[in-house]
Amino acid sequence: MTAVLTKKKTAKKRTAAKKKAAVKKASKRRDGAPESAKSKLYASLVVQLLSLLKGEHDFIANAANFSALLFNSLPNVNWAGFYFLQGDELVLGPFQGNPACVRIPLGKGVCGVAAQQLETIIVPNVHEFPGHIACDVASNSEIVVPLFDGERLLGVLDLDSPMIGRFDDQDAEGLNELATVFVAHEEGLGL
Ligand code: SME
Repeated sequence: MTAVLTKKKTAKKRTAAKKKAAVKKASKRRDGAPESAKSKLYASLVVQLLSLLKGEHDFIANAANFSALLFNSLPNVNWAGFYFLQGDELVLGPFQGNPACVRIPLGKGVCGVAAQQLETIIVPNVHEFPGHIACDVASNSEIVVPLFDGERLLGVLDLDSPMIGRFDDQDAEGLNELATVFVAHEEGLGL
């Protein structure tokens, strides 16, 4: 398996406080190191996402706009969207891209494995991932980020690319920040 598992996030880090940290990071790096083009892009996406979410608490509308923001802003992405946990399976949520499989059992496919392991998974080559579920034949690499409300798994954010090796640790970090901002905004909705 060529998947790369990123470090498990503690529940403590998945709080609204992290939303503030993400915003702060979006405006300024504290270590003084030059920002890469990719981290600048994610920083700008945090600002854009906050602007899209501002004053709006319709969960479906916000998830739809979040997926559209990712799909239209990140290069070489052919699918971006959500699967939400219902019982022991993930069910398709708002997305951009080709129609996709609707239900994914926990532990199946990249999404189901990420949801079961509670880890971000980067798959450089989906054709080498055992049990990968092919929704779009154009997809060659994938990243799946679990969404948490505290310790509770809400679902996953899934992005596909036609490029082999499209996603790296910077994407994982950027997408986790965006996911944290999104979930923090939706807190209190009883999802
Ligand atoms: N490839 C995913 C299925 C969802 S689609 O990529 C949209 C998987 O293996 O879980």
